[in-house]
Amino acid sequence: MSRAQSPAAVSVVASGPVALFDLQRQRRRLEAEIQARIHTVLTHGQFVLGPEVDQLEKRLAAFAGAGFAIGVSSGRDALMIALMALGVGPGDAVFVPAFTFAATAGSVVSVGATPVFVDVEATSFNMDAADLDRAIAETASAGTLRPRVVMPVDLYGLPADYPAIAAVAARHGLTVLADTAQSFGGEAGGRRVGALAPISATSFYPTKPLGCYGDGGAILTEEAALDEAVRRIRSHGRQGTGDAALQLGVTGRLDTIQAAILLVKLDVFDAELRRRRDIAGRYTEALRDLVVTPDIPPGAESAWALYTIRVADRDAFRTRLDAHAIGTGLFYRLALHQHPAFAALPVRPLPVSEQAANEVVSLPVHADLTDEEVDRVIGAVKASV
Ligand SMILES: Cc1ncc(COP(=O)(O)O)c(C=O)c1O
Repeated sequence: MSRAQSPAAVSVVASGPVALFDLQRQRRRLEAEIQARIHTVLTHGQFVLGPEVDQLEKRLAAFAGAGFAIGVSSGRDALMIALMALGVGPGDAVFVPAFTFAATAGSVVSVGATPVFVDVEATSFNMDAADLDRAIAETASAGTLRPRVVMPVDLYGLPADYPAIAAVAARHGLTVLADTAQSFGGEAGGRRVGALAPISATSFYPTKPLGCYGDGGAILTEEAALDEAVRRIRSHGRQGTGDAALQLGVTGRLDTIQAAILLVKLDVFDAELRRRRDIAGRYTEALRDLVVTPDIPPGAESAWALYTIRVADRDAFRTRLDAHAIGTGLFYRLALHQHPAFAALPVRPLPVSEQAANEVVSLPVHADLTDEEVDRVIGAVKASV
């Protein structure tokens, strides 16, 4: 990798604001390659399922160590298409963490199934396997819904506790579909995200660790039958170039131009992940005695989509960081059951999710932050707690 491509090589004005996300620095670093790749697509003209999509799918599967990867139109569509491929529909219960982005539950509602909210662990913010066990048992004994799928989310980039969740799911005969929208590039137990569950859905939304320049996503799976079903569903239910719709499908393909952009970004992805880890390590080292910093279990690596701390007076803290020109984000202010769109769904006690929604705040952690900016974030947090 040339110096021009390496993250954080671009110098910035020392006193300027530190943005939570800064896609322009990365774009400047990769501009020549991205322009060349886009130009190739414009020239060959295969804008839908062109050769770059096929190349990207092979490289994503190899990167993750997964059997198959299929490019799709967004992270939310990836979840929906995966649910369709698993045959999930009306009358089925899908268990989702209550503390996540709305799209996790939205994808379930979109196939006519019912999300059942599960509380999260206070340290990882990921699905609590003990509460999952309770939620499945309650749903089964209520008798109105059929427990079908468990959908853990790797919040902020840290893989959920898949061994514990898979054990609960197996005991109840359920499939695990991982919402890895935030965690592509993360790992646990010697395996990368995309190979931690039988089927995983990820997002290439621009601010994700691996992001394109619009909407995009992928499904990764170990099973050939699911790979085939996903390929049919993303393309109107047709097999290859066949006319017949063999099953209900959607317009769910990843655009060739987005695949071309992702191919360039995948070349530097490992270096960017290392830089994110380095920044996260420096924050934790400097801030662990002042605020609740992320706790990464042994053997796991976060993709560091977000570096999220907990602070009791979160809103006042955030206002003070604003005054220091440090960008922050609130992911998420509401737990899922607190969204108007999900108000009619069954409710269970979700105290950890509700508390997290009141206390979390995310700091800048993108790969193009300079060391000087990292120090400024640390200094501002110290001055603001
Ligand atoms: C946890 C989670 N699930 C699903 C999605 C949906 O991804 P997309 O925005 O690509 O549809 C996101 C994206 O923001 C997400 O963070």
